[in-house]
Amino acid sequence: MLGEAVYPYFAERYEDVLATDKDINEAWLDKLDVRDDELLEQVFRTYRPQRVLHLAAETDLEYCETNPEIAQETNARATKVIAQLCEKYGATLAYISTAGVFDGRKAGFYTEDDNARPIMVYGQTKYDGERYAMEYCSRTFVVRAGWMMGGGRRKEKKFIFKILQQIRNGAEEIFAVDDRWGTPTYTYDFAGNLFTLLETQCYGLYHMVCEGKGTRFDVAAEILKTCKRPDIQLTPVSSEFFKAEYFAPRPYSEMMLNTRLRKLGLSYMRPWKVALKDYIETYFSDYIGVPQEKPVVSVKRVRVRRFQPRVAVAGTGVYGGPLMNPRSDAQGSRSGRNGGQSSESSRGSRFRLSGKKSHPESSSARRRKNS
Ligand SMILES: NC(=O)c1ccc[n+]([C@@H]2O[C@H](COP(=O)([O-])OP(=O)(O)OC[C@H]3O[C@@H](n4cnc5c(N)ncnc54)[C@H](OP(=O)(O)O)[C@@H]3O)[C@@H](O)[C@H]2O)c1
Repeated sequence: MLGEAVYPYFAERYEDVLATDKDINEAWLDKLDVRDDELLEQVFRTYRPQRVLHLAAETDLEYCETNPEIAQETNARATKVIAQLCEKYGATLAYISTAGVFDGRKAGFYTEDDNARPIMVYGQTKYDGERYAMEYCSRTFVVRAGWMMGGGRRKEKKFIFKILQQIRNGAEEIFAVDDRWGTPTYTYDFAGNLFTLLETQCYGLYHMVCEGKGTRFDVAAEILKTCKRPDIQLTPVSSEFFKAEYFAPRPYSEMMLNTRLRKLGLSYMRPWKVALKDYIETYFSDYIGVPQEKPVVSVKRVRVRRFQPRVAVAGTGVYGGPLMNPRSDAQGSRSGRNGGQSSESSRGSRFRLSGKKSHPESSSARRRKNS
């Protein structure tokens, strides 16, 4: 999901980007399983990346909980090998981590100074990955994201997708959890902010989330508001309600602040409600508005604390894990050699420099550009 935003953003700004995944579902992806040490070394030896964005991970919490060895192998051990290779071949490493490294007991927002205490396999393996990244590569950025939104039309697969899918399927009532807090993180803002951070040499640990906080219920309410669907009843439930499906422990709070980015004057993440509205209007505009035949009824808030039948949803395909190789240094990469146009080779992963500024590009700007 994050790769869907990161790849085009970086590909427009660097001459040469190699994007990889273990599942090839885009023309511009090359196959690479990050658990394959030999293949990893071969990629570093032949491609010589100057920057490596390590997004690849087992991100399904329930899968991690039931397959801890695979989670450890992918999220932690592979990160150790990648960090060692970055050190060996002189690359800068950006390892994307998660608010899920915290136990969630803190009353306020988590900062980078708070101790990580994971309570589930996913969080533990990502935290192990963080420590390996820091320990084995001297040029490492560890960047923690929050609840991700922004896979776009084809790669959105998590909470936003599930709410939109229920809207599309004609749901009259949607249930959303209101006892877990987090900071939504818009992938397109994240891609731009990450690019900016990587132009510095201020290595270390960062939080990179949108501004504000909310529960899943708040996010669902915002989606319904943006979609102008007051006819759909939104019902808050506790996380017990979805316990059978989402059985992995989740922290009570995953709220984070971008304290270190702010100190550097480099936090460009927008408030999550602004970003979410932008996202839906840009990618899901056809979900906005009540279908003609549906009468509008008022929204009723009912607290439900026990199991009830709910709308079943399925996941979608995903992608991730690009390796980056800017051909020139950061300054050179903005020289705009071809006047802002990107050209693609037959293999689909070779791009010219665009000369764009390195701050996050808003979706509205993208819309203007594309129109
Ligand atoms: N989603 C969130 O809310 C969130 C929040 C904070 C941080 N993050 C972090 O952000 C990064 C990107 O996550 P995302 O949200 O974009 O999730 P995602 O869509 O699941 O992306 C992860 C990608 O890594 C791939 N992958 C898994 N095992 C691999 C392996 N052995 N070798 C190569 N690729 C492998 C997955 O492929 P398959 O689909 O084929 O398994 C998937 O394409 C991850 O590091 C994640 O921990 C995510």
